[in-house]
Amino acid sequence: MVQTVDSIAAVSDSWDVARVRADFPVLHQTVNGKPLVYLDNAASSQVPQVVIDRGSIYLEQEHSNIHRGVHYLSQRATTAYEGAREKVKRFINAREARECIFVRGATEGINLVMYGYGRKFIGEGDEIIISAMEHHANIVPWQMLCQEKRARLRVIPMNDAGELLLDEFDGLLNERTKLVGVVHVSNALGTINPVKEMIAQAHKYGVPVLVDGAQAAPHMPVDVQDLDCDFFVFSGHKMYAPTGSGIVYGKAELLEKMDPFQGGGDMIKTVTFEKTIYADLPNRLEAGTPAIASQIGLGAAIDYLNAIGREQAAAHEAELLRYATERISAIEGVRIVGTAKNKASVLSFVIDDIHPHDIGTILDQEGIAVRAGHHCAQPVMQRFNVPATARASFAFYNTKEEIEVLARTIERVIEIFS
Ligand code: ALA
Repeated sequence: MVQTVDSIAAVSDSWDVARVRADFPVLHQTVNGKPLVYLDNAASSQVPQVVIDRGSIYLEQEHSNIHRGVHYLSQRATTAYEGAREKVKRFINAREARECIFVRGATEGINLVMYGYGRKFIGEGDEIIISAMEHHANIVPWQMLCQEKRARLRVIPMNDAGELLLDEFDGLLNERTKLVGVVHVSNALGTINPVKEMIAQAHKYGVPVLVDGAQAAPHMPVDVQDLDCDFFVFSGHKMYAPTGSGIVYGKAELLEKMDPFQGGGDMIKTVTFEKTIYADLPNRLEAGTPAIASQIGLGAAIDYLNAIGREQAAAHEAELLRYATERISAIEGVRIVGTAKNKASVLSFVIDDIHPHDIGTILDQEGIAVRAGHHCAQPVMQRFNVPATARASFAFYNTKEEIEVLARTIERVIEIFS
């Protein structure tokens, strides 16, 4: 039977983890003969049945292109696609839906801002500030821009806990600063950065701020008006939607000034061989046929998150992180990397003399999925002087029992190597 959001029972005050787990078909399987323990949510979270079904409805009943047809199916698809945009608008409290641009994910979102805003407004001698805990998606595009324009990349340092040094940030801001790009929640360390304060600090110098919200949007309420950020990006596949979905939010006055990221169909008003007049927002920044099914799925994932209760989900995740930190840091030989006071959802660790890839491989043999590696954040590894870490990352469907399985298996890994 096709599931709809209305059919999901409201979850009561005490988090009913069994109830929400039932919504995720992928969780109910064995891996290497063991029940799957899925702790790689920071890389990609799982998709609830209601989102899978919404994608199937599009493919079975509505499949057609958007914005182009006067026919019935195209109108239905357009309504669903634009309906998803409205849901995103409410989800992040944007002023207007046209401020929410559909992209394939956070990486494409940052590249869109780099091409459309950075290449137009950043030039020789200008400075871009990012932080020491960015992942590659919020480093490499700015390096490319700096190389092209002879601009300079400046980096806010962090302390040994993985907290940004805000005084140093203040010292980096100056009249040459043209943009700040900062991650809301670090994918490698779990640190929640005080982005609202940082945005206010940058705005004193008139500098716009891009927030990489890929790890924040799935785990905490986001209010772009309250943050007063200029750009905010996130990926759908880290928040229970399919891959290929995601958002760039931008203040309308900035998006309107930007050059289009790509040229093509759907982003134009008129085209002649002499001149093209671009369409208004949001189409102006969405050339070609988008990932219609995925973005409709993102809308369904937002409905799902609202239905289960985002605050309760976040409270459950906070309790999982507290429990996992206490249990795993107590194991002799384990060191947690990233011990900021304010953290979300991520537990990165190393074990004396055991490579994280070996940890990940043995955990996998026991059905436990973690990420082992540099987490697309090599400068973070360099800062903590480790080649890589093992990373468990939690979602609201994880349980304390799963953390116990993880902890016992880590103890076995240590035994095997001792
Ligand atoms: N940025 C993703 C991660 O943290 C891919 O795993």
